[in-house]
Amino acid sequence: MAHISISTSKPAGTLLFWVCLCLMVSTLQTLVPNEQKQTVRQTASTMATELQTTAYTRVDPGYGDGGTFNCGNKSICEGYCFVCENTSLKMQECYEILVDWCKYNFDIAMGSMNTTDWCTLEKVKSAYNNFTVCTETVADCLLLPWPNQFVEHEFVNIHTTYFQECPTEALRDPPPSIVLALVMTPICLIPVMVVLVVLKTKNGDRRS
Ligand SMILES: *[C@@H]1O[C@H](CO)[C@@H](O)[C@H](O)[C@H]1NC(C)=O
Ligand SMILES: *[C@@H]1O[C@H](CO)[C@@H](O)[C@H](O)[C@H]1NC(C)=O
Ligand SMILES: *[C@@H]1O[C@H](CO)[C@@H](O)[C@H](O)[C@H]1NC(C)=O
Ligand SMILES: *[C@@H]1O[C@H](CO)[C@@H](O)[C@H](O)[C@H]1NC(C)=O
Repeated sequence: MAHISISTSKPAGTLLFWVCLCLMVSTLQTLVPNEQKQTVRQTASTMATELQTTAYTRVDPGYGDGGTFNCGNKSICEGYCFVCENTSLKMQECYEILVDWCKYNFDIAMGSMNTTDWCTLEKVKSAYNNFTVCTETVADCLLLPWPNQFVEHEFVNIHTTYFQECPTEALRDPPPSIVLALVMTPICLIPVMVVLVVLKTKNGDRRS
């Protein structure tokens, strides 16, 4: 008896639940502040996915570190540490100068390229990868966390400077409305499926 009453009330209940969920999700979408969406869109690209998904911990970036200077243990670090060692710069300041140097190399590589190639992932990949590796290596050598706030800012700058106008899907996310549609369609199909399955099961029960 109890079994029958459950199976009759279930479809309506499930449908209601999923409709509510769909409404909730769409409401949440509209509630996300525009500024936040903008930042996400700017940094989100196939190339920066890794950066985005890596959670970084903000550690005190060497401020107040007076005389002692720590250098990474790699042979490549000698050059970088040499630059920072005997200056009065704080670790973070020296890091920013070295990242500027990475960025300078990136700008040169991009500048030597036909601007029509800026949106071609294959053409840009090497320079972009070099920039990523450069900032990471320097951070490793200066014992700073990576990715960090400064370097994320530089990535956003690069995207606004070079990839803002890219029509390619590879470098640009589809408009939010399309993303919403793509996400919502399978979610909203679930209640239909559930109802179908439940109805089918009920029919089967009745027949047997
Ligand atoms: C530096 O690297 C060497 C060899 O790779 C290792 O023996 C040594 O323990 C490392 N030192 C530090 C402080 O990590
Ligand atoms: C930095 O200073 C130390 C001692 O103060 C010295 O031994 C070293 O050669 C200096 N390095 C550079 C690059 O000037
Ligand atoms: C850039 O590419 C376009 C189209 O491929 C070509 O017409 C133009 O001459 C190229 N410019 C340079 C500087 O290579
Ligand atoms: C990236 O770095 C590699 C190795 O240092 C170098 O051969 C290549 O030319 C660089 N690519 C660009 C676009 O600067």
